[in-house]
Amino acid sequence: MKKRIIASPDMRKAASRRKEATIFKPASFDKKEALEALVKGEKYYIHTYGCQANVRDEETLRGLLDDIGYISTNNPKEATLIILNTCAVRENAEDKVFGEIGNLKALRRQNKNLVLAICGCVVEQPEILNRMMDIFKEVNLYFGTHEIPQLYELVYEARTSGEIVVAVESKPGEVVEIKPASRSNQYKAFVNVIYGCDKFCTYCIVPYTRGKERSRLFGDVLNECRQLVAQGYQEITLLGQNVNAYGKDLNEGKDFADLLEEVAKLGIPRLRFTTSHPWDFSSKMIEIIAKYPNIMKFIHLPVQSGNNRILKAMGRRYTREQYLALVKQMREKIPGLALSTDIIVGFPNESDEEFEDTLTLVDEAKFEAAFTFIYSPRKGTPAAKLEDHIGKETKSTRFQALVKRLEKHIEAHSDAMVGQVFDVLVDGVSKNDPNMYSGYTDENKLVHFRGDESLVGKIVKVKIHESHTYSMIGELVNG
Ligand code: 5AD
Ligand code: SF4
Repeated sequence: MKKRIIASPDMRKAASRRKEATIFKPASFDKKEALEALVKGEKYYIHTYGCQANVRDEETLRGLLDDIGYISTNNPKEATLIILNTCAVRENAEDKVFGEIGNLKALRRQNKNLVLAICGCVVEQPEILNRMMDIFKEVNLYFGTHEIPQLYELVYEARTSGEIVVAVESKPGEVVEIKPASRSNQYKAFVNVIYGCDKFCTYCIVPYTRGKERSRLFGDVLNECRQLVAQGYQEITLLGQNVNAYGKDLNEGKDFADLLEEVAKLGIPRLRFTTSHPWDFSSKMIEIIAKYPNIMKFIHLPVQSGNNRILKAMGRRYTREQYLALVKQMREKIPGLALSTDIIVGFPNESDEEFEDTLTLVDEAKFEAAFTFIYSPRKGTPAAKLEDHIGKETKSTRFQALVKRLEKHIEAHSDAMVGQVFDVLVDGVSKNDPNMYSGYTDENKLVHFRGDESLVGKIVKVKIHESHTYSMIGELVNG
């Protein structure tokens, strides 16, 4: 099949950070009516990998497709449009995508009308995109994280041209407000506040795949949140690769603390935000979090390592001492705070002593939750060029040791919850036990309890009577 290359990714362009102001573009839906007529009554299937930014992107994709009458299906065999919304942050996420395309490609041979599309972070990497195009002749649409607003046009072209359509442009940074979004949850919503990342941690592919930091306008974020409150949403999570950078690219004189405060004032029962880079977490933010009861006392604050040489090699812009001082300030000013983190083990040439520093940092910070990762080299990032003398086995032994150390503290926090009553926003029937319902506390702890369908989407009081490290068992408290 012939290729129609509308735009290809370019790592150098993706890494450029010109000091231009963010460009706000109106959404223009070319080929909307044409595609609508073509796909009437047909079905689409989307599978998303990775972070909340991808989950939110899926909601935008669904919103656009639902808006023209495309019908969602969980069965790819029924679909005339299959979209794999991919994640590139670690190699195993990428491997899964390759595996799934392998499983789906036969469908394309059976149905010439099928559009098999790959979008998201994986295709933003030139080498991986080329490898995919070499291996999978069946995929007929590739589009990047910046091309979501062109969805109608791209699907139409892929469907009607008989060519492989490639539209992955490494853009410096635009914000397009797209109205329709089909939210995946009726009570909890994600709201983007800032796209992209300018931190360029040396191990991380995100600044290349998601581009320059660019904030949505203050008023646009507030309007979206106001609407969610009016629709009865119970929880909003403000999203960004680094929410603390919000507003720096705008001339509105507002920062993330201002935004957090204004959203809190709208009266949403629960307000969360993620992710925060420790480097620009301001004292003003700490004050705002402490001040508003509806801002959840839960902060995700990735530390990545507890050793200063490694932190420097990672380009993290803070020292162990600065991180711990920030944690101390947070814990003092925000009573009942639960702190979660991300940690990478096995960064190139991390010594035993350097890893030990991560363990002692865990002991000092006493995290309530954590995500742990083994370092995965990402082509095009500075760290991937480092020669690494640490073997796989050492890394996996360290990984186990880290998980054990984290669990010691998480378990202590969980045990201390027993006997106390917590507010829980009820998600639905528990995944492990059909007789139980589950939801999360303000501090983001998973709780299972006996309940009924009428409680779903409500905030209820649950008394904890059993602790299982990562989840709790409790019972409803009347009234
Ligand atoms: N290898 C392992 N973990 C990574 N992360 C980001 N890039 C990599 C990588 N190359 C982790 C970081 C980040 C989280 C979202 O993913 O801990 O905070
Ligand atoms: Fe990646 Fe660092 Fe940006 Fe987080 S802050 S997305 S780890 S570059």
